[in-house]
Amino acid sequence: MKSIVVLVSGGGTNLQRIIDVIEAKEISNALIQLVVADRDCYAIERAENHNIQTAVIKRGRGFSDRLSKLIPPGTDLIVLAGFLTILSPEFCQQFSGKIINIHPSLLPKYGGNGMWGDFVHKAVLDNQESRSGATVHYVTAGVDQGDIILQKGFDLSPDETLDSLKEKVHKVEYEIFPEAIRKVLTL
Ligand code: GRF
Repeated sequence: MKSIVVLVSGGGTNLQRIIDVIEAKEISNALIQLVVADRDCYAIERAENHNIQTAVIKRGRGFSDRLSKLIPPGTDLIVLAGFLTILSPEFCQQFSGKIINIHPSLLPKYGGNGMWGDFVHKAVLDNQESRSGATVHYVTAGVDQGDIILQKGFDLSPDETLDSLKEKVHKVEYEIFPEAIRKVLTL
């Protein structure tokens, strides 16, 4: 059985998707052992609704060290599903090859510091990009720079809005995130 820890900061629809896929045995032989948030957020409630153990640790001094102490020994994969704290280089090193993140753009485009949530989508629209999408990648010390595991894009429509773009990106995320987890865990 592979053991997964999920890190969250927000609404947690990607977390929900992962929970559902595991419960439906579309990802078999894996369990979410713990969900950790860096703030109070709805994602924590989602985890609790499925009797998954949770922890909330506040940002600030020694965050990554405190987080590292919470990761159960034997954890196979740490999944960042809308997690907004930058992890320390030491943390990334300690769990090298075991941390993955989902990013709402076609990396390397629209990645890096400050490129999260609506900032990404607004930049894509402002630049009149013809395509966007989502990327699952390994987490390394360089923000959004780790190797890409899976990426999927789509064409923007001429009348694309922030909301319609966000919806399309989420749809792609729900598709590629479980697939990437399966791939990384070789399930
Ligand atoms: C997703 O768009 C993901 O790409 C980004 O944060 C968002 C999280 O959404 N990292 P949700 O909380 O899973 O709904």
